[in-house]
Amino acid sequence: MKRRPDILKNARELAASVPRLRVAVLVSGRGSNLESLLRASREGRLDADVVLVVSNKADAAALDVARRANVPTSVLPSAGLTREAHEAALAARLDEARVDLVCLAGYMRILTPAFLRAFEGRLVNIHPSLLPAFPGMDAQRQAHEAGVRVAGCTVHFVTETVDGGPILAQAAVEVPPKASLDELRDAILAAEHELYPRAVQLLATGRARWIAGRVVFA
Ligand code: GRF
Repeated sequence: MKRRPDILKNARELAASVPRLRVAVLVSGRGSNLESLLRASREGRLDADVVLVVSNKADAAALDVARRANVPTSVLPSAGLTREAHEAALAARLDEARVDLVCLAGYMRILTPAFLRAFEGRLVNIHPSLLPAFPGMDAQRQAHEAGVRVAGCTVHFVTETVDGGPILAQAAVEVPPKASLDELRDAILAAEHELYPRAVQLLATGRARWIAGRVVFA
């Protein structure tokens, strides 16, 4: 059947009228996952814009990544503040930037239940293991010490259970028998850089949604 050009035009207009997801990325360190999200957005693989990068560390290299990409940054140190005061400042900054989704990318702070409630269903994290295996600190070392033959990474919604929220996407990495810890870290990180933009794209396109505490796929 021949497709009518006016139908095509309407589909194009509809696609152009769907607002792009406004994303904030919270960082504390290197910023390689931030960089992968920025690259995917720039290259048209991600229908989302990183509109704000917030760091709790003034010297985080991730801030330079953001500045190079002309993304607004905020530094919100926590020293001398209560958790509640620090997170109130963070929430205010995120609201002011009209953020749809908050991506944690190496953000080294545990968020309070009040903050998690305020951002329920709009907060995701990337963790360097195939959850629920190896939650917590230095997941790559845990995987290496356990001698796993398959490792990987997970993007999940953030809830009060640390590294325990509903899973949005995962990627597996085969571990060669004699892989060193550094080789394992590098392989997992490369998988993270592929996975995070793909996971956020699921949300940006509505192919996955948070509904009443679960991830529902279209
Ligand atoms: C990544 O391994 C991520 O999985 C973990 O922290 C690390 C952050 O790295 N949550 P980078 O700052 O994105 O380079």
